[in-house]
Amino acid sequence: MTIETKTDQDTTAVVRQVVERHGADKAELVPILNEINRRLGYLSSETLQELSTLLRTPKSQLFSVATFYNMLSTQKRGKHVIQFCESAPCHVVGGRQIWQTLLETLSIQPGDTTPDGKFTLVTTSCLGVCGVGPVIIVDEDIYGNVTPEQLPDILARYS
Ligand code: FES
Repeated sequence: MTIETKTDQDTTAVVRQVVERHGADKAELVPILNEINRRLGYLSSETLQELSTLLRTPKSQLFSVATFYNMLSTQKRGKHVIQFCESAPCHVVGGRQIWQTLLETLSIQPGDTTPDGKFTLVTTSCLGVCGVGPVIIVDEDIYGNVTPEQLPDILARYS
């Protein structure tokens, strides 16, 4: 007998709702994964298993897609995700200082989550807004021309 926890039920309900909204269509896979990731915080093994059944797609294939896109995560993340653009155009206009300040301020390593579960810090390649580098994204908010001095104020906006 399988004992289903509340979390299992929540996960199943969210996955089913999202698939219902988009349709059980493999062409909708990325939008489906994106919405589930946003609602549940990450794509757990259980989530991918449920989705695999509903989309009749091997779990391994879903995992490949989930690990390919930076906006998706198969690891539990913090409440807010900070994406730092590490590509060269941002790097040469001050990105290095931003990165150092982020590491020092949050006291975590790339890919890690702060002990209070508030922030996860990840790197990303060019976000397509190089004209306003250095660039960071917090959740879905884009910040351009960021200076190290602005970082405390930016982070304070997220509780
Ligand atoms: Fe950073 Fe393009 S290099 S946004």
